[in-house]
Amino acid sequence: MNIESWEEFQQINQAITRFTDGIEDGIYLKEAVSHICNSGGKKIRPIMLLLSAEVCDAKIEDGLDAALAIELIHSASLVHDDLLDMGTIRRGIETTNEKYGNGIAMLAGDYLISKSIELLASYKKEVIAEFGKAGMRMAEGEVIDIKGFSEKQWNEEKYFRCIRNKTASLFAASTAMGAYAADADEDKVACLREYGERVGAAYQILDDLLEYRKILNDKHSIQHSTGLVEIYSMHMNSADAMRKVEERVHEEVNFANSLLKKFPDSPARDKLFQITEYATFCMLP
Ligand code: FPP
Ligand code: MG
Repeated sequence: MNIESWEEFQQINQAITRFTDGIEDGIYLKEAVSHICNSGGKKIRPIMLLLSAEVCDAKIEDGLDAALAIELIHSASLVHDDLLDMGTIRRGIETTNEKYGNGIAMLAGDYLISKSIELLASYKKEVIAEFGKAGMRMAEGEVIDIKGFSEKQWNEEKYFRCIRNKTASLFAASTAMGAYAADADEDKVACLREYGERVGAAYQILDDLLEYRKILNDKHSIQHSTGLVEIYSMHMNSADAMRKVEERVHEEVNFANSLLKKFPDSPARDKLFQITEYATFCMLP
């Protein structure tokens, strides 16, 4: 699966370059913002936004500003997450806080969030409301994550509340915003929103599983979230716990795919099936 060759991926990358190149040279935050935006990343969320718009019969251009807004707020959330986690390396390179200090990192994140709001100005209010709610859910999810460390009663229910808010919310917003940008009806929006939510949950469960297995060795965060394996391991051995976690991921992905199947067959729908696989099972070694 070569997602980098997709038109959607290339359009998003070009939009990011236009944005960073377009920041005036005298602006202090230009360097830090460019560092963040050019640090790689799979672009899963904005691609999902564009494809969701396409399955609802819109063109890529209709969703492009919204897709860039999603990528920028996602980047801002990682910058803020690294600040909170005191992370030093992400995606194999220095985090913004490590390279420029905490103050600049916080403000570069603020800059990106503000830019993303500006990008949404020409969309209808449903798109903007969806985006705003996702930001609030992400902040809430991150708090649940932080509080989880000091709580004795960290359990499956709290774990899911955490990951649905901190991670699945932005996937859900991406797919719903794509549908809204295409002027789809509320049934289609709801279907795509739930599809995004399920993919996002599956993605985070696997991300936590990989962290547990210490496979992601390019991240050196001091703090680590307690994932589902650790929770299941309280009642079973770790091999069984890992198997149970993978089953849970399958459940989320199967449900997500069943929602996509409600849309007629099309190249965009086919790419959504592929990106679901890419965001989830392709992460496993
Ligand atoms: C990474 O999780 C972080 C998130 C999924 C969300 C972080 C959200 C915030 C800091 C709130 C920001 C809100 C706005 C509106 C920008 P992780 O630590 O489990 O994954 P990692 O291993 O990639 O760090
Ligand atoms: Mg983190």
